[in-house]
Amino acid sequence: MFRVVTSLVLVLSLLFLLTSVQTKSIQGTLHRRNYFYVGEHYVNAPGTDNGTEIAFGQVYVEHLVPANVTQPFPILFIHGNGMTATNFLNTPDGRLGWADYFMSQGFEIYLVDQPSRGRSAWQIGVDGNQSAFNVALVESRFTAPQLFNLWPQAALHTQWPGNGTAGDPVFDDFYASMMPSLTSDEESSIKVKAAVGKLLDDIGPVILLTHSQSGQFGWILGDFRPALIKTIIALEPIGPPFINAVFPPLTPARPFGLTEIPITYSPPITTSSDLHKQINPSLSNSSVGVTCFQQTSPARQMVNLVGIPTLVVTSQASYHTDYDDCTVAYLQQAGVPVTHVRLEDVGIFGNGHMMFMEKNGLDIAEDVVLEWIQKTVQC
Ligand SMILES: *[C@@H]1O[C@H](CO)[C@@H](O)[C@H](O)[C@H]1NC(C)=O
Ligand SMILES: *[C@@H]1O[C@H](CO)[C@@H](O)[C@H](O)[C@H]1NC(C)=O
Ligand SMILES: *[C@@H]1O[C@H](CO)[C@@H](O)[C@H](O)[C@H]1NC(C)=O
Ligand SMILES: *[C@@H]1O[C@H](CO)[C@@H](O)[C@H](O)[C@H]1NC(C)=O
Ligand SMILES: *[C@@H]1O[C@H](CO)[C@@H](O)[C@H](O)[C@H]1NC(C)=O
Repeated sequence: MFRVVTSLVLVLSLLFLLTSVQTKSIQGTLHRRNYFYVGEHYVNAPGTDNGTEIAFGQVYVEHLVPANVTQPFPILFIHGNGMTATNFLNTPDGRLGWADYFMSQGFEIYLVDQPSRGRSAWQIGVDGNQSAFNVALVESRFTAPQLFNLWPQAALHTQWPGNGTAGDPVFDDFYASMMPSLTSDEESSIKVKAAVGKLLDDIGPVILLTHSQSGQFGWILGDFRPALIKTIIALEPIGPPFINAVFPPLTPARPFGLTEIPITYSPPITTSSDLHKQINPSLSNSSVGVTCFQQTSPARQMVNLVGIPTLVVTSQASYHTDYDDCTVAYLQQAGVPVTHVRLEDVGIFGNGHMMFMEKNGLDIAEDVVLEWIQKTVQC
């Protein structure tokens, strides 16, 4: 009896191994790690005069150099809200992440923690208020949307490792990695522009990869240092233009179209009200809470971004699936050379907003992002 059970277990394990090899996995890549800080400013501690300086505004930068660098440009990753650079190091279920994947393809990697987040100091009385995503928000929007159905495609979500709710060890590890974040996206934008702008001056040109909240930092940095960014890869960038969507309250946001802070348009604008907008009915859908604004014609151009090839990637089951088309249309109308890949159109199914750490994350890295870089970035 014991033998029969043992062989059954063996056969089942073999079957498991055979089915699990279908998902891509990688070996670690021999590399050197370094870290440094960029962008600090000294200010007297709040409530004091001189002689009490503290530093603020800096970003933590982790630099990973594979033993065999074969690619001409490094990739700079900027994580989204609530997150830090750990997003790209490994996955919450312990697999190697996108940093290792791209090192295995010969890329140097830079990972930052946004200012006032994670290993980048938040100074009381100097930096603005912080807020944190609660467990219910993370479960319902990111890790287990199929249990909450807050938007129609949520039901298609299958790729999160584990059941995606508190008590599951993978969820718990992921949730524990999250950090309080500056409440104001305007403050974050100003600080990212200053510190990561300085980083670009030191290390550019780079391939810039953004996710979610940092999507707008991609447009801001591309505007600020266009010669130092070869391509922008925006995974589900924050949007849509001018207004929040899907999750009430559907309040105005991003007064400069896709950004909280001014960005260069031609003809130039002096205030955000110089941008004239109208609703695009074919990309709006009130039943899912999406109002899609575009500029009136002729649209002002985001002139500093017109030379930067841009990729927007949207997963099948994320809430972004209802409005990334609108963000892409806004970029196109403003002259940005943008390509939109919906993962389900290239045979990659079941992903949510945290696509790069999901079970098939390496398929997205290889079939979508690497392919885009190879096609787009010339030496
Ligand atoms: C504060 O500034 C004044 C004027 O510059 C200077 O005389 C004084 O030494 C400073 N105090 C400290 C503690 O640095
Ligand atoms: C580095 O990678 C290139 C391209 O894959 C390969 O041709 C070369 O042999 C590698 N060099 C070493 C030292 O591994
Ligand atoms: C920051 O938080 C404090 C304490 O909750 C609150 O009194 C203050 O109004 C907040 N400031 C801003 C700018 O939201
Ligand atoms: C997920 O797994 C954890 C740990 O086993 C369990 O406590 C929790 O009830 C599960 N959640 C769901 C929705 O099945
Ligand atoms: C709006 O979204 C709902 C839910 O996905 C869908 O059934 C409907 O067809 C959409 N309407 C339009 C006009 O696209």
